[in-house]
Amino acid sequence: MKTVITYGVFDLYHEGHENLLRRAKALGDRLIVGVTSNEFTKQRGKLLLADSLDIRMANVRNCPYVDEVILEDHYGQKAEDIQKYRADVFVVGDDWKGKFDYLRKWCEVVYLPRTPGISSSSLRTAPYPKISFGVVGSGRIVRRFLEEIKTVHGGVHAEQIYNPHRESAERAAAEHPDLSVCDSYPNMLKLCDAVYIASPHETHYAYAKEALQEGKHVLCEKPLALKEAEAKELFAIAEEKSLVLMEAVKTAYCPGFTRLLSIIETGFIGEVRDVECSFTKLTAPDVRERTDTEYGGAFTELASYTLLPVLKLLGCKDLQVRFDSQFDENGIDLYTKAYISNGKALSCGKTGLGVKTEGSMIVAGTDGYIRVEAPWWKTSRFSIHHEDPQDIQDFKVYFAGEGLRYEIAEFVDRIQGWHTSDYHLTKEESITMARIFEQYLEYRKGLREE
Ligand code: CTP
Repeated sequence: MKTVITYGVFDLYHEGHENLLRRAKALGDRLIVGVTSNEFTKQRGKLLLADSLDIRMANVRNCPYVDEVILEDHYGQKAEDIQKYRADVFVVGDDWKGKFDYLRKWCEVVYLPRTPGISSSSLRTAPYPKISFGVVGSGRIVRRFLEEIKTVHGGVHAEQIYNPHRESAERAAAEHPDLSVCDSYPNMLKLCDAVYIASPHETHYAYAKEALQEGKHVLCEKPLALKEAEAKELFAIAEEKSLVLMEAVKTAYCPGFTRLLSIIETGFIGEVRDVECSFTKLTAPDVRERTDTEYGGAFTELASYTLLPVLKLLGCKDLQVRFDSQFDENGIDLYTKAYISNGKALSCGKTGLGVKTEGSMIVAGTDGYIRVEAPWWKTSRFSIHHEDPQDIQDFKVYFAGEGLRYEIAEFVDRIQGWHTSDYHLTKEESITMARIFEQYLEYRKGLREE
């Protein structure tokens, strides 16, 4: 019996897939098809899928030429499977020509001509409207956003940019020929479907509110708001108008952090009793986050990151919050520790603009602990430890580029209505973050008045 094996994503199963599977089966007696997992597909650079894994696998299973369906989830698996299933022929479309010649060591490799004029990518974008992004702000994060958005497909394009300091927007636009500079925010809102807000923190709420009221989806840099009531109001408008509102805490959307949470939830370290993490940067004294005496400082600048694992693992209810800060001469905090507990677990999140700590995270539980290597907010490498110091399990999950592509992909996924990813940062978590920022600013104000 001659066994043929092939692999693919098979999103929005189409006639090109069916043709390939028919011709593959004709090369032997038994056809095995590896369907690529969501995470591995992402790792290989395709961020947006329209169908869930279940649907993709079911479609392949229903194909009359297919005898067996397997999951493909790691590099090197093709060589492993060929040996395991004793495959005689490996087949793939000729868009991959030459890429799998190394498999000739184990079996025959055949590249079949692709069916012209059809692909999952074209089907994914065709029925959906183009999403035109307007960008507010033109600082460092915007530059990164403009590079990262190019890696996300699904009909999304950054086309407009607005900054009250027009020259700054013009400088950003000069590097991106598709961007037009808008002379006012209301004018930009007329031209776009969605906005990415990356202006100074205290302006996020007003820009987001205006965009939502004009019927635009909003992806807003952290912190979404510095007051609980403001965050609640923004989500209420978004819900009333059926718009997508997301806070751009990039770690929340990246595959490594998602994997880390699933492993903890599966009980590998027992019940979580402590979360310790830090996010610190050494900055020059004249940067905005150190000169803006009202809204600058380490906590408002960086705590969206440290609050994320704390709220994910301790929840948002019944939290006791306490702060300790060290201040610069102008009254902004250079270093802050936020102690948050919920009666069952403790946590300490450290943020610093003038103090450098190690950027790792430790989650301690009743059966062991997880250490996430620095920079933990670009979650990529972590290990599980138990009582026996030799008993270590290592994990590695790929983190692509600057990581903003994951939040952009999820935002697009929600706007297009595909919903193939979970809501990685919930409304409740964003509102709780805003509440904790409000508490912090009150604490700092109180100390200044003393
Ligand atoms: N394929 C084909 N003809 C097409 C499209 C795909 O023969 N018109 C083949 C691919 O070469 C691959 C298999 O079908 O061997 C599975 O394809 P998949 O990974 O799903 O790719 P695409 O449909 O090309 O998806 P995308 O547009 O997302 O790349």
